Amino acid sequence: MAKIIINGGKTLSGEVKISGAKNAVLPIMSATLLCPGKFTIHNVPDLRDTRTMMQLLEITGAKTSFNNGSVTIDSTGVNNPEAPYELVKTMRASFYVLGPLISRFGKVQVSLPGGCAWGPRPVDYHLKGLEKLGAKLDLEGGNILAEAKELKGADIHFEFPSVGATGNLVMASVRAKGLTRLYNCAKEPEITQLCEFLNSMGADIEGVGTDKLIISGVKELNQADITVIPDRIEAGTFLMAGALNGEIKIKNIIPLHLKKVTDKLIEVGCKVKIEASSILISPPQKINSIDMTTAVYPGFPTDLQAQWVALMSLSESSAIVTDTVYHDRFSHIPELARLGANIKVEKNTAFIRGVNQLVGAPVMSTDIRASAALFIAALAAKGKTEISRIYHIDRGYEKIEKKFLGLGAEIMRES
Ligand code: EPU
Repeated sequence: MAKIIINGGKTLSGEVKISGAKNAVLPIMSATLLCPGKFTIHNVPDLRDTRTMMQLLEITGAKTSFNNGSVTIDSTGVNNPEAPYELVKTMRASFYVLGPLISRFGKVQVSLPGGCAWGPRPVDYHLKGLEKLGAKLDLEGGNILAEAKELKGADIHFEFPSVGATGNLVMASVRAKGLTRLYNCAKEPEITQLCEFLNSMGADIEGVGTDKLIISGVKELNQADITVIPDRIEAGTFLMAGALNGEIKIKNIIPLHLKKVTDKLIEVGCKVKIEASSILISPPQKINSIDMTTAVYPGFPTDLQAQWVALMSLSESSAIVTDTVYHDRFSHIPELARLGANIKVEKNTAFIRGVNQLVGAPVMSTDIRASAALFIAALAAKGKTEISRIYHIDRGYEKIEKKFLGLGAEIMRES
């Protein structure tokens, strides 16, 4: 099985160009199923997850291709409204095809995602929302079967501003009859871009970027093109690598999407220079121990919690990190402990006592962001770290070792 070997302790320096956002492109690719058409999506990161989504679209009957950072999707021949277990189990975001397919075909069969490495991750908000729009749901052989002769606009209040449920319900309602009002919506930039894409396809969504979306159902949608926003989580991961290990200029980004993260890094003692589309970060002499609590956007993203824990494990005293979005997302901690980190977890909170040095060891990645945390910890650790199950990192980080090699890291991939 492939692994990455990192010889840590090298000072990083240089520039890195951030790729398009995984969590923006996946719902946008699903949205192309809403109507027949030829779509071109630019600035697409070449990731396992984007390839999985292409495979899923092909199963529904779409034609897809990937050239020079652009994906083209021809959804004219889509005739199979299904997402099978084989793909949903490898990528939960496959569930995003639920909304577009029921909207276009009046029926859909999507495998129910199971639990994940860090908890149950239910999809009840997606399903309750669809029922409110008039769909009839059944569970058969682990698959959700949803049917609706016609979806009808409704008022839907999310208990929690779920990214996926907001995306799915917006896609399901753009052609529903009448008005749909979604309350307590996710305001993550990836959802904002999905709404903008849908509007460019002819949808009528008001309140884009706010927690209340008002959708007037339209009869028809049309094809459209889009350029994906930069990946704020990839950018945040490189910022934390810089905070640990060297001066890095992170380019091709939208600094506003990282405001909470850069504010925190300044508290840590980093020098942070923000320009129109780049951030230059320099590490502090001593890493201040700073508590952090994750929150929905514009709060500190849960997708950077593991990397923050890695940073705090080398801080000068003690820090408390709480995840309010995913309460069990701590599978990186036992692996960081193998590198010498001193961390205890109680419920959804990690208590970190900074150590002077991490020391390389064989470790295992358990999900995308946990592997990113191990990666940056290994870059800062003394000696050799071998990270196995590296397919997790390939799901969400484009050319990660090439990018870090460009910054002066010593990394090797073994297949
Ligand atoms: N939740 C429910 N019921 C639902 C949906 C969500 O209880 O029906 C709960 C979840 O269990 C969780 C919270 O609501 O406690 C937030 O979950 P959300 O639905 O917002 O997450 P998601 O849509 O499944 C997306 C990202 C995740 C990211 C979260 C939170 C994609 C493809 N995935 O997941 O990204 O952590 O939002 O920001 O956009 C990653 O990229 O590594 C990743 C896991």
